[in-house]
Amino acid sequence: MASAARDIVQRPKGPSRTVSSSLGSSSSPTATFHPTLPHSRRASPKQLKPFATEDIKILLLENVNQTGRDILARQGYQVEFFKTSLPEDQLIEKIRDVHVIGIRSKTKLTANVLQEAKSLIVIGCFCIGTNQVDLDYAAKHGIPVFNSPFSNSRSVAELVVGEIIGLARQLYDRSNEMHKGTWNKVSNKCWEIRGKVLGIIGYGHIGSQLSVLAESMGMQVIFYDVVNLMALGTARQVPVLTDLLRDADFVTCHVPELPETENMIGPREFEQMKNGSYLINASRGSVVDIPALIDAMRTGKLAGAALDVFPSEPAGNGDYFVNNLNSWAEGLRNLNNIILTPHIGGSTEEAQSAIGIEVAESLMRYVNEGATLGAVNFPEVNLRSLTLDEPNHVRVIYIHRNIPGVLRKVNAILGDHNVDKQVTDSRGEVAYLMADISNVNQSEIKDLFESLEALSCKFRD
Ligand SMILES: NC(=O)c1ccc[n+]([C@@H]2O[C@H](COP(=O)([O-])OP(=O)(O)OC[C@H]3O[C@@H](n4cnc5c(N)ncnc54)[C@H](O)[C@@H]3O)[C@@H](O)[C@H]2O)c1
Repeated sequence: MASAARDIVQRPKGPSRTVSSSLGSSSSPTATFHPTLPHSRRASPKQLKPFATEDIKILLLENVNQTGRDILARQGYQVEFFKTSLPEDQLIEKIRDVHVIGIRSKTKLTANVLQEAKSLIVIGCFCIGTNQVDLDYAAKHGIPVFNSPFSNSRSVAELVVGEIIGLARQLYDRSNEMHKGTWNKVSNKCWEIRGKVLGIIGYGHIGSQLSVLAESMGMQVIFYDVVNLMALGTARQVPVLTDLLRDADFVTCHVPELPETENMIGPREFEQMKNGSYLINASRGSVVDIPALIDAMRTGKLAGAALDVFPSEPAGNGDYFVNNLNSWAEGLRNLNNIILTPHIGGSTEEAQSAIGIEVAESLMRYVNEGATLGAVNFPEVNLRSLTLDEPNHVRVIYIHRNIPGVLRKVNAILGDHNVDKQVTDSRGEVAYLMADISNVNQSEIKDLFESLEALSCKFRD
């Protein structure tokens, strides 16, 4: 692993990797991905891989979605698939030999495991979170990590739509009563949502999707965000949170977990909300002060609430939603018109399938083209694909320590060739250079590779 440059003559086994070449000795049947142009208008992209496609070994654990498995298998890579995670000793045994690993949340890629991964060039987390990976260790060993943070936005937005109606109609209380054999037909304090005001806090991927759905059901949408954003449809941004709390019948939180969003809805905010309004939180458990919410429900200030996320969440399924987990859990469970769900906002078949596609495509783009857009621990660099119309072009990828003077040395090496495009970025100690150079003979590539490898800015030998 580690490394500096990927090269057409250098197979990605052993410690070095770098140039991705347009000279295309690969026998890849595919390598035709182009992210921007419709197929019919594209020039055929070159096979940028410096190795035979079938040499690339991919280990997929934890039942990674079929969509992702299919994309990688169609590339012609060797894909080994396991339904579960592996015990650490077996994981170490397997990871020694692979170039790509795909995991979900249960596989821990610690420094201890990664130091054995001598051939590894990239990690795919087929999920949202990445804290199961030692991101810093991976970055400093030239290994980008990809995930899929937004594939489930629609699923969360739809859940919230369901909850708005469920709360307005006290649906879950009526249903629970029926399950216990009680017929309790009421209309008191049950509402249509048409014409009601939905206040969205955080107008990002989820908040903006929800805005469109809510408006199509006749709601008026207002939102508060720290950034000035283009409102969709007839939605309206309000300048301060107080305005939203004052005017909204339903308040829903869609902000990230940050120091400034911790307990952003607490006693003061509940006080500012309309009497008989509703609160929904499907963002992060730290955003709502739950003891304050329990008080607001008990006093009747709130008519209902829906919570999908909690400050402490159990690692597995079971009878864990008790006071041992969160001291107020039983108080919350005993309230009326409160929907409690176990962090299922993004848990749909569609979201899993979208995650499979997004992460597999990120892995494929990195292996084939060196693109790191969307990497969570790495500088983000991309150039359009080289195409078959560009003979004797080579893509140089150089991952190095972010220290002064490196670019001068690299450019001195590349200087004998025509550098058509060059892009570089850094993140912390890691710097990433991508350059497309032309007029390169096959015979010169090995020299280029060795010259780059000889520079003293590699992460390790
Ligand atoms: N329940 C689930 O299963 C589930 C699934 C996916 C995401 N989430 C969570 O939902 C939340 C939103 O996700 P997203 O993909 O829409 O994120 P996003 O990054 O696309 O949007 C977040 C928005 O919040 C805004 N924001 C940040 N700080 C703010 C503040 N202090 N006040 C107001 N606005 C602020 C940002 O400017 C941004 O527009 C995240 O916390 C995410 O972890 C939950």
